[in-house]
Amino acid sequence: MPRNTISERDLKLTPVMAALAIVVSSSTSFGSEQIPRLGKPASVEHMTMWDLSIGQDGSNLPEGRGSVRQGEQLYNERCAACHGESGDNPRLPLAGGQGSLTDVVPQKTVGSFWPYATTLFDYTRRSMPYDSPKSLSNNEVYALVAYMLWLNDVLDEESVLDATSLAEIRMPNRDGFVSQWSHR
Ligand code: HEC
Repeated sequence: MPRNTISERDLKLTPVMAALAIVVSSSTSFGSEQIPRLGKPASVEHMTMWDLSIGQDGSNLPEGRGSVRQGEQLYNERCAACHGESGDNPRLPLAGGQGSLTDVVPQKTVGSFWPYATTLFDYTRRSMPYDSPKSLSNNEVYALVAYMLWLNDVLDEESVLDATSLAEIRMPNRDGFVSQWSHR
């Protein structure tokens, strides 16, 4: 048989393939009962679990409150093993380093680097403790944030945080960042 000509076998197959194509395309048509029934509608409760983002101005901070003293106890139970007793584990520091950002080896911590305390709430609530993220209540997060800020000399030991007082905190490195959006 010469090359490049359609064989008899190919010609016989063509109607079969055309028929198959019709069957396949009709079975994937978008009739409502033929849409794969995967997943389920997200409930309000489920979406709330993921609606966690806090604005730098404190928008979307939840209700609740917590004190430095409450935070100290929680910190010792749930955080100190990794971050050190006073946030001083050199491999995962949470405190210290203020004034070191222009050193050859800057020490970036919550106190020396982070420009907004509201971010600390957002970060802690969504990702800590590292081995059990999202297991803290809002009150516990407020208390832990208060304690971490006390460790960094941003708050005194009698302080209590809630949505209003947290949003009012001015972090030591607040002016160390340049905004690309000058109107903000
Ligand atoms: C099992 C170890 C572990 C535990 C327990 C843990 N952390 Fe962490 N934490 C980490 C690690 C690892 C990182 C760095 C994560 C990264 O860079 O992605 C981190 C980062 C952080 C940071 C960001 C520090 C920075 O400057 O970037 C904060 C704040 C923090 N943890 C708070 C907490 C708090 C509060 C608790 C207790 C509720 C806690 N962590 C418990 C391991 C832990």
